[in-house]
Amino acid sequence: KIYPVILSGGSGTRLWPMSRAHYPKQLLPMVGDKTMIQETAGRFSDEKRFHPVMVISNDQHRFMVAEQLQAMDQPWSDLILEPVGRNTAPAAAIAALRLLEDDENAVMCLLPSDHVITDLPSFNTALEKAGAAADDGRLVTFGMTPTRPETGYGYIRQGSALGDGIFQVASFLEKPNRETAEDLIAAGDVTWNSGMFLLPCRIFVDELAKYHPNMVDACRNALKKAQRDLDFLRLDKESFEACPSDSIDYAVMEKTDLAAVVPAEIGWNDVGAWQALRDVSPLDGKGNAVVGDVMLHDVSNSYIRSDDGSLIAAIGLDDVTIVTTQDAVLVSSNEKAQDVKAIVDRLKKDN
Ligand code: GDD
Ligand code: MG
Repeated sequence: KIYPVILSGGSGTRLWPMSRAHYPKQLLPMVGDKTMIQETAGRFSDEKRFHPVMVISNDQHRFMVAEQLQAMDQPWSDLILEPVGRNTAPAAAIAALRLLEDDENAVMCLLPSDHVITDLPSFNTALEKAGAAADDGRLVTFGMTPTRPETGYGYIRQGSALGDGIFQVASFLEKPNRETAEDLIAAGDVTWNSGMFLLPCRIFVDELAKYHPNMVDACRNALKKAQRDLDFLRLDKESFEACPSDSIDYAVMEKTDLAAVVPAEIGWNDVGAWQALRDVSPLDGKGNAVVGDVMLHDVSNSYIRSDDGSLIAAIGLDDVTIVTTQDAVLVSSNEKAQDVKAIVDRLKKDN
């Protein structure tokens, strides 16, 4: 049985004004009625195949996370709290070390909390293939078909086949520049890293220790001195603060020889920005996605969302994003909607 581990640390600033530092996108119903973390946990409800989910979250969001997990009719195991963010490699190490305390052969599925997967059967098939490789000691990634030279993702070049639909990773390149991304896609046999991993815990910790021994030591200490607090397991502040910060992609996946990839079509989208949200939403005949109280007249190819109960009336627009919340309104061209990050940075500075 697989141990699902959900990472909930990010704040998703490119989905401002809905996603905020205090209320990040994984804790919001960005698509549909359930929040993204509930959707993620819900994919692992089959008790025959999965242990209860573990969540690693920052301290600030603990009550929201706990409440949202409680609202689901499926069990969860630990909710581990980080006193500070140290990116995904330490979070993964903490999860692995925690699981190894009770199960020396634990295999964990590391999961971002903010992804959309529309084809669950295909995802489960991919997981099955990955399971065989993880049992053979591989650190398994899931390869998504690239559709543009995106610079925010990891790129995986496929090597020789290890089995049916599973390949050795020839190289893993995290967040290449645009030119390199274009070259990689043109060369073929390349996929995007989904950000989900299937990892034999013992081997993952050993690989991480090979490249970043301090990180593993700091995580061991943070866990050893962790405190139980209600439903939470609170990592030791001093030890975890001493931990270097790095993502699992740079810290392990770019370096290891043990990586494997399962290329899969699972309807994956990491809804990193407003444009992506339109891509995963049902569209009307003119290519608009609307949420909430919205009236359109002669509007096309737009994402328009009222999240505060107010009526949005839009007239004569094409290719725009409009989002209203209680205290902020975003109006942007679709092309530039990613740049909302610049506004968030300015707001942070002003506060
Ligand atoms: N607990 C915890 N602590 N979670 C964290 C932390 C942290 O310090 N930092 C990030 N996370 C969570 C985020 O909430 C998200 O769910 C997940 O870990 C991935 O982090 P991101 O910051 O979103 O990573 P990324 O988007 O830059 O890159 C990763 O995902 C891409 C696909 O979406 C990489 O794995 C890329 O290779 C991949 O292509
Ligand atoms: Mg991300």
